[in-house]
Amino acid sequence: MKKNTPRSPRPQLPPRTVSIVGTGSYVPPRVVTNAEFEARPELQTTDEWIRTRTGIRERRFAAEKENTSDLSAEAARRAMAQAGVKPEEIDLIIVATITPDMPFPSTACLVQHKIGAKRAACFDLEAACSGFLYALEVGQQFVAAHTYNTVLVIGAEKLSSVIDMQDRNTCVLFGDGAGAAILRNRGDGSHGILTTCMGANGEHADLLKMPGGGSKHPATHKSVDARLHFLKMAGKEVFKQAVTAMNSAGTEALARCQLTGADIALVIPHQANLRIIDALAKRIEVPADRIYVNLDRYGNTSAASVPIALDEAARSGRIKSGDLVLMVAFGAGFTWASCVIQW
Ligand code: UT7
Repeated sequence: MKKNTPRSPRPQLPPRTVSIVGTGSYVPPRVVTNAEFEARPELQTTDEWIRTRTGIRERRFAAEKENTSDLSAEAARRAMAQAGVKPEEIDLIIVATITPDMPFPSTACLVQHKIGAKRAACFDLEAACSGFLYALEVGQQFVAAHTYNTVLVIGAEKLSSVIDMQDRNTCVLFGDGAGAAILRNRGDGSHGILTTCMGANGEHADLLKMPGGGSKHPATHKSVDARLHFLKMAGKEVFKQAVTAMNSAGTEALARCQLTGADIALVIPHQANLRIIDALAKRIEVPADRIYVNLDRYGNTSAASVPIALDEAARSGRIKSGDLVLMVAFGAGFTWASCVIQW
């Protein structure tokens, strides 16, 4: 194995113009433990299987009346409070989600109304679990181009609304939540996004999908009876693709900045499976104490997973000013993305 020694001095870093000036997150209060699934005999599952095969101990499920826009709005309020940004200062809202409140209007428009960001342009972005990092890159382009001063980027999901509670292969994996970040040009050139890599491969679209509810299978009695309005995943195949894509996205972002794992203060990976996270840590040679994991508490929250972890890491002091942070995600599509940011 290649020796992972810190670079000294640190290589010349690319210029940074766009920073995250505030983060926020929100998870619904209802905790659903593995024991709740174990208590349902038809699922034939155990806490032990879920913990050892995934790393998940519990997840949060939103209340019936609490939708993705509500989770998003609360995360956004917390990010605005931290950044000292007023709703009317927000120029653009991007919500990354695969569980919008409804197909249209966009969840971003609903969030705009809920937080009172009357001046903001709004749209949703769909890149599944890579959605937040895709949205971060799109948002930063608007700030870097001086089109907008203040962009609110949100990753939010109510996956409990699309999981099939009769399918043990998927129902134990997912949870609800939201994370938000506010982007601005701080003007000092020494903090902010260094690079973002994004990729996709539509060849494997069938391995992870929700077939119903779109133009191909609009809602009919037949589509509902066939359970087409639930998430479907070929777990083992997705797992293999996830390991490969997470590893290459992580190494590509580091290589672009001429960094190694040793330069990174904290890695924030998409929280899908502890074994995927461990494989990434091994590949980029970062020890476990520099990998952020909250999968045990929230399960896989798709587009919300990276921004919730980022917010928790920042608020708990795991990331300090000047630290280099690597974020990596993989999801349906397939899509993948990675980002190096100097905090
Ligand atoms: O977020 C975006 C991308 N998503 C991912 O990255 C998820 C990727 N996939 C995974 O994390 C894993 O593949 C899973 C956690 C979904 C499954 O773990 P696995 O080790 O790949 O298990 P498997 O699908 O190969 O299934 C092994 C066995 C099967 O039984 P048989 O056929 O060997 O008798 C499954 O039926 O485990 C069984 N199984 C379960 N047993 C108890 C599957 N789910 C469960 C369950 N409880 N909940």
